Amino acid sequence: MMIDLCNILVDNGLTKEEILQNIEIVSTSYEDAPKITELLARCFDLPNQETALRQLIYSDARLDKSVKAIDKRNGDIYGFLLFSNFPIHVGSPLLHLNPRLGEFLMQFRQINGHSFIIDERLRGTGIDKKMLYLQKEFLEDYDMIWAAVEKDLKSHTYWKRLGFKELFKIPDASFYAIFNKNLNEDDIYSIINDLKDEENHYK
Ligand SMILES: CC(C)(COP(=O)(O)OP(=O)(O)OC[C@H]1O[C@@H](n2cnc3c(N)ncnc32)[C@H](O)[C@@H]1OP(=O)(O)O)[C@@H](O)C(=O)NCCC(=O)NCCS
Repeated sequence: MMIDLCNILVDNGLTKEEILQNIEIVSTSYEDAPKITELLARCFDLPNQETALRQLIYSDARLDKSVKAIDKRNGDIYGFLLFSNFPIHVGSPLLHLNPRLGEFLMQFRQINGHSFIIDERLRGTGIDKKMLYLQKEFLEDYDMIWAAVEKDLKSHTYWKRLGFKELFKIPDASFYAIFNKNLNEDDIYSIINDLKDEENHYK
C-alpha cells in the first residue's frame, strides 16, 4: 500500500526564501512529544495520534537527541528526524525471517533513524545534511545505525548515497544500515552476505 506522506508541515503560505531566513537546526527535547506525535500521525499517514505516541514509546525514541528544523522566531517545525533505541531484531521481522542474521546483528550497539521528513519547500536546500550531522557525536557512540524504507518511498537511493547498505528486504520495505567507521565494514558485510540469503530453517 502506498504511504501518503504530507509535504507541507507548516501551512502558512511562506516561500522557501522567507522560511530559510529563520531556519535553525536543533535537538528535540521531551517537551516536543505532543507536537512530534501530532506531526508523526499527520505526516506519515498514521491512523491517529495514539498510534504515533505508541510508536514513540515502543521504539524508545530519544527525543532528547532527535533533530528538528525550526523557525527560530516561533518554534514552528519544518522537518524532523527521530532516533530510537530500537535494535533491528526488535524493530523488524528479521529474527523471524533470518534468525542467524538477526543473531549476528544483535552484537552491535544500534540506533534506529526514522521518520525523517522535511517540508517540501525546504527539500534540496542542504537542510537534510545539517539535520543528519547535528548529533554526529551521539551517533558515533553506536556501532550501527539502521533505517527502514517503505517500498514505495523515493528515498532508497538517498540512504545509499549516504553510505547505507541494504541488509535485507521484505515485500513492503527495505532495511538499510551503516556501521561505525571504527569497525571493519568489509568483514561485517562478508558475514552479512553469507547469511543474507539464508531462510528461516525453524519455520
Ligand atoms: C528524504 C528527505 C528528508 C531528504 O531531504 P532533501 O532535502 O529532499 O534531500 P536531497 O535534496 O539531498 O535529496 C533528495 C532525494 O530525496 C528523494 N526524495 C525522497 N522523498 C522525496 C519526496 N517526497 N519528494 C522529492 N524527493 C524525495 C529524492 O528522490 C531525491 O533523490 P534523487 O536526488 O536521487 O532524486 C526529503 O526528501 C523528504 O522529506 N522526503 C519525504 C519523506 C521521506 O521520504 N522520508 C524518508 C523516510 S525513510
